[in-house]
Amino acid sequence: MHRNRYKILLSEAEIRSRVEELARAINTDYSGEELLVVGILKGAFIFMADLVRELTIPIAVDFMDMSSYGASTRSSGEVRILKDLETPVEGKNIIVVEDIVDTGLTLSYIAELLRTRNPKSLRICALLDKPSRRKVDITPDYRGFTIPDYFVVGYGLDYNEEHRNYRDICILQPAQHED
Ligand code: IMP
Repeated sequence: MHRNRYKILLSEAEIRSRVEELARAINTDYSGEELLVVGILKGAFIFMADLVRELTIPIAVDFMDMSSYGASTRSSGEVRILKDLETPVEGKNIIVVEDIVDTGLTLSYIAELLRTRNPKSLRICALLDKPSRRKVDITPDYRGFTIPDYFVVGYGLDYNEEHRNYRDICILQPAQHED
């Protein structure tokens, strides 16, 4: 590990306290309701695990895995499903949990797809938001942090599958930035 190539943007403590705030908002908004929490793999797995443990309403969890077409670009615009939900969503309250909204293409595709399955409600919870990179008009209903256009790793986010296990969210130095 070359930890010194990374600068901490959001510390473990900052993330924990913000995740608790997000969960409190969700607990309040869905009081008396049931919720299906849909995690988008792989980046959301740590955020999702921490978030759902702070929820006090009755929940079920499920996961989707999506991929952009094109090897070199993550945000090429076309998205395909690698793993679909196992749970029917019709008539349910759904929150889609994502690590980061960048161009917004992935989330807008997922939201449109899930809406065709007639959920009772559909909201988006993203830990990070990079609005300066947005290509489609999508705003998370629950948002942890708005960040500038840095490539970040840690707390589930990767660079070439590395660094997902960092406790903090760190900025990858520009020399390593490949978009
Ligand atoms: P979008 O479709 O452009 O919004 O891309 C969202 C996906 O791109 C996220 O779920 C991440 O997997 C990936 N991504 C975007 N920005 C970053 C970043 O700064 N670090 C790690 N992954 C990122």
